[in-house]
Amino acid sequence: MSVAKKDYKRITTKSLIEMKADGQKISMLTAYDFSMAKIVDAAGIDVILVGDSASNVMAGHETTLPITLDQMIYHASGVVRAIYRALVVVDLPFGSYQSDPKEALRSAIRIMKESGGHAVKLEGGSEIKESIKRILNAGIPVMGHLGLTPQSIYKFGTYTVRAKEEEEAEKLIEDAKLLEKLGCFAIVIEKVPAELAQKVAQSISIPVIGIGAGGGVDGQVLVIHDMLGMNNEFSPRFLRRYLNLYEEMTTAIGQYVADVKSCDFPNEKEQY
Ligand code: KIV
Repeated sequence: MSVAKKDYKRITTKSLIEMKADGQKISMLTAYDFSMAKIVDAAGIDVILVGDSASNVMAGHETTLPITLDQMIYHASGVVRAIYRALVVVDLPFGSYQSDPKEALRSAIRIMKESGGHAVKLEGGSEIKESIKRILNAGIPVMGHLGLTPQSIYKFGTYTVRAKEEEEAEKLIEDAKLLEKLGCFAIVIEKVPAELAQKVAQSISIPVIGIGAGGGVDGQVLVIHDMLGMNNEFSPRFLRRYLNLYEEMTTAIGQYVADVKSCDFPNEKEQY
């Protein structure tokens, strides 16, 4: 169960900011459907991210770019129907907020209205400032995302660690301060040196949730399929696997196949 000191009955953007002030770490995982979200919520997670990583792990695309707003709404609605406690944050997908602030607001409103999610997440800093302002002005909570931003993979060219050079590190710190000033309630920082992520976390009062960003931040997020070991082809250094579900599931399914073929299943007790 959760190791939270206070019993936050329902996690809100405000409780996350209080957790940081209290020195409590924030736990966040992705989920993309009702059944998985029910388990994740029951286990005491603070934040469920309906990530656009659904494009990779649910649909099998190489990048997060192809997933659509309609598909994100479909995934998020199942998650929202499952949860009692966690805050549900939904990614705005590539192409739904970059062109202009009005479109960004329309996309965020669709997420909130049609999925029932509690907040949206956008990738980027100063470049998308006007879109973030507009969404926040409409009363929609915004989580930022800096560092490795997978929607820009074709600009970066690789998924390697970001902000190793001083110029990019300075921009990241400035962007984090800007997101705080605009009114974002938290920021995900992905794949940057641990020392830099810690410096960012110490320089702002909103929570910094890291993925591949070390332990000096205010919380951690992982993709659920990765941490459960459902995918045996993805092994970045930052990933801790808590199960080897790929192995366990193929063994179980292989056993079922064998039982059906051998007429062991169903037995007399398993029929009417
Ligand atoms: O889409 C996603 O799963 C994410 C996490 C990696 C933070 O954005």
